[in-house]
Amino acid sequence: MHKIIPASRVENIRYAIREVVGLANKVKATGMEMFFLNIGDPNIFDFQPPRHMIDAVYRAMLDNHNGYSPSPGTEEARTAVRRQAERNGIRDIRDIIITNGASEAIELCLTGLLEPGENVLLPQPGYPLYASILAKINAEVNPYFLNEDDNWNLDVADIESRINARTRAIVVINPNNPTGAVYPKETLLEIIELARKYDLVVFSDEIYDKLLFDNVSYTSMASLCDDIPVVTFNGLSKSYIVPGFRIGWAIFSGPEELMKDYIEGVNKMARARLSANHPVQYAVKAALEGPQDHIGSMLDALTLRRDITVSMLNDMEEFDCKVPRGAFYAFPTLNIPDRDEDFVKDLIRETGVVTVHGSGFGQKPGTKHLRIVFLPNEALLEQAYDKIRKFVKKRYH
Ligand SMILES: Cc1ncc(COP(=O)(O)O)c(C=O)c1O
Repeated sequence: MHKIIPASRVENIRYAIREVVGLANKVKATGMEMFFLNIGDPNIFDFQPPRHMIDAVYRAMLDNHNGYSPSPGTEEARTAVRRQAERNGIRDIRDIIITNGASEAIELCLTGLLEPGENVLLPQPGYPLYASILAKINAEVNPYFLNEDDNWNLDVADIESRINARTRAIVVINPNNPTGAVYPKETLLEIIELARKYDLVVFSDEIYDKLLFDNVSYTSMASLCDDIPVVTFNGLSKSYIVPGFRIGWAIFSGPEELMKDYIEGVNKMARARLSANHPVQYAVKAALEGPQDHIGSMLDALTLRRDITVSMLNDMEEFDCKVPRGAFYAFPTLNIPDRDEDFVKDLIRETGVVTVHGSGFGQKPGTKHLRIVFLPNEALLEQAYDKIRKFVKKRYH
């Protein structure tokens, strides 16, 4: 038999976040103490989901909701998502599909929209899943660069200059992974204006929408318009601390005439994959309509951790870190002569501190960054940043 050669489409699929883990695991095997500042999974650290969500899933399993659910999701979960979307000011909701994580919603919605060769405006730096899906369906990334000098805000004029005849949609991740930026309402309105002018679908990824610091004001994109198609992605993974449940959703809002064929197309694919995890969907109502106390305590902890991160990094001349206003990531500039990828690898080998290089998220050519996840507790973060300080001192001074 011949060696099995994978399809060429997998060549363009990269996931730097998990790729650094290979090296980290090798270093860990040598017995070195490790500091994992690379994966956005709150459960690895000292965060736990609310008990009432787990009870709801347990009850659902005992009640034998263990078969397939309806393909778009259970009525209960979809209604809870709809109610929350309405509370957020989203009008003209045309459909809601519950999926295996926001990831699956993103995959279904991009796959259902794009012909090969068409493109989607994607933020750089940005969450790498979008580019992987586009690679899989032979559609193209049309990158737009976030503006670090403006607290990582969107640069609307730059975005407009990149739109061409094959541009079908724009992705906005707000609050942003990996920069932690939360976008002002005025900027979101300008993006909506672009969508209107150039006939674009807006994909608004709001998976971090409850993780906001400093009382920053937050607006759900779809609440700002009713005349353009918006698909809002969200889920339980981050704000409700259950990434392993794999529960997310897509909310379709906008003019029915414009959207109905597209929504039916996405539903066809949702039917083909049968359903999202069924019993776990019973956590959705419990999460969205039950007590929200865990969010306050999570934000208290994260604010402290964010502050330590920004102040300890900015104490080093090799780092320049803007203040994240949401999510749990910092994306400091590295002022170093080396490639950021080499810096990350050597940092893992010499100190056990695991971060992800900015080049793994896409960044302006010539710039260098690190993505740091500030979920670990304060003591661990302090130790990790102390190790980074000694590492840069030895390397560059
Ligand atoms: C911006 C963004 N969107 C989507 C996801 C995926 O979320 P889920 O766990 O719901 O698939 C992540 C996960 O890190 C993310 O950062």
